[in-house]
Amino acid sequence: MKTQLSFVSLDGIETELLAVLAVDTQSAKGPDAKPQPTLLTDNKAVNSAAAAVLSSGEYKAGANETLVLHAPAGLAAKRLLIVGLGNQAKATVHSVRNAAGTAVRFAKPRGIREMVFALPENTEWSAARSARAVVEGAFVGDFDPDTYRSDRKDQSLQSFTVAAPEKSDQAALKAAFAEGVIIGESQNFTRVLVNEPGNKLTPTLLGQRAAQMAKEVGLECAVSSTEKLHELKMGAFWSVSQGSAEPPALIVLRYEPEGVKSGPVLGLVGKGITFDTGGISIKPADKMELMKYDMAGGAAMLGALRAIALLKPKVRVIGIVCAAENMPDGKAQKPGDVQTAMSGKTIEIINTDAEGRLVLADGLAYARQLGATHLIDAATLTGACVVALGPVNGGAFSNDDETYAKFQSALATSGEKFWRLPLGDEYAEMIKSDIGDIKNTGGRAGGAITAAEFLKVFAEDTPWIHLDIAGMAWIEDSRPYIAKGPSGVAVRSILEWVRSYE
Ligand code: BES
Ligand code: MN
Ligand code: ZN
Repeated sequence: MKTQLSFVSLDGIETELLAVLAVDTQSAKGPDAKPQPTLLTDNKAVNSAAAAVLSSGEYKAGANETLVLHAPAGLAAKRLLIVGLGNQAKATVHSVRNAAGTAVRFAKPRGIREMVFALPENTEWSAARSARAVVEGAFVGDFDPDTYRSDRKDQSLQSFTVAAPEKSDQAALKAAFAEGVIIGESQNFTRVLVNEPGNKLTPTLLGQRAAQMAKEVGLECAVSSTEKLHELKMGAFWSVSQGSAEPPALIVLRYEPEGVKSGPVLGLVGKGITFDTGGISIKPADKMELMKYDMAGGAAMLGALRAIALLKPKVRVIGIVCAAENMPDGKAQKPGDVQTAMSGKTIEIINTDAEGRLVLADGLAYARQLGATHLIDAATLTGACVVALGPVNGGAFSNDDETYAKFQSALATSGEKFWRLPLGDEYAEMIKSDIGDIKNTGGRAGGAITAAEFLKVFAEDTPWIHLDIAGMAWIEDSRPYIAKGPSGVAVRSILEWVRSYE
């Protein structure tokens, strides 16, 4: 998708589709309070073209509600699309991101390959924030998961233009727009990986994709396998991969900005299980095919690193993706086995399906060894987190309030939803082992929390955030602004958290 930003008056733009935003400005509540849809543009011709339909009461400017007018009077555009942001009191820049996705997903199935999106005017947030959100949303909306359909018609938009008023602060808008392109493309980079099935994206192939991306954006990347795991004594990571014919991949990326020799080193650690059968504690067949997305945490780290390499914040970053396939086999680990992690801690395997925490245990330890002063991990870690928060919020955990506060602020920019859940000694008790130091499951109760407590053991005294994205990484039902399938969640939030250390 080609994107551009232009500073022109909306009425003269020749395009297949001109999209404008509307809010409901009705502030009264109750049965007599009729919606008052109002366009977020001062352009007189656009307002008069839409005047009749807006006063008809047919269109309420609800969030992502669309209405299209063909051959709008007084405009050079062939179609005028109005996209709602909902009530003005609740609309935010994040509603704008979604509305841009909705506009793109309106165009795609109608064979429209080129469109113009009017940057909203008169909003409480800055035009620059809107510009970035619009491009991000457009990329998010443009993605569809039908990679391997032989009759796949390429419905991707070829050209997406953001139109801003001539009187704008052009330099600020251009910078925000350019950021939006990088971030939107990086989120889609992650989604492409998450969408890949297990046979097309083994740990080795994930390593190759990471290396290729690193080369393109100028990151250092080293991918190693079994031998290196043994050399580093990564007994926990290795135990997950030992039952698979596919070798594991330890993917290490480094971002070293010029002239930054001191200050924090941020360690980004991702779970990269390219397929999770559960191992000997095998999963039921129902929905098992979705376990191809068990590398979404690792893919989120790769997407974030891509954006970091292009946006160049002045802070050092190390990325580690622990990629393996969790399979049952004669060589697979068994419940009751005891593994020694890189840190020296011994782990009693209760359930071979609790494999994500095992690979992350060694990933976190390695990030610390490489000099990370702050850690963040992302993982499709527990079904318990899905039960707790549904498909609405990701789970977040931290051993350090100050570090978490920075993540909380990052969420305000990213627009992603995470909910902090507690940690505590009583939960840590639940994963003590009789035979070794800890066990890899703490029972059904509090399952997302005991999993986080397990990781905390390996973060040790390093400030650390854990993101459980099991319920967020795969969208079950399509929404007006995003296809069903891989969401690319956490890329934007991790990126903003990293930038907060600049
Ligand atoms: N990959 C799964 C978690 C998961 C569940 C991700 C649903 C996405 C959707 C993870 O490896 C797993 O199997 N966790 C177990 C842990 C249990 C055995 C303690 C779970 O949640 O059931
Ligand atoms: Mn599992
Ligand atoms: Zn898993």
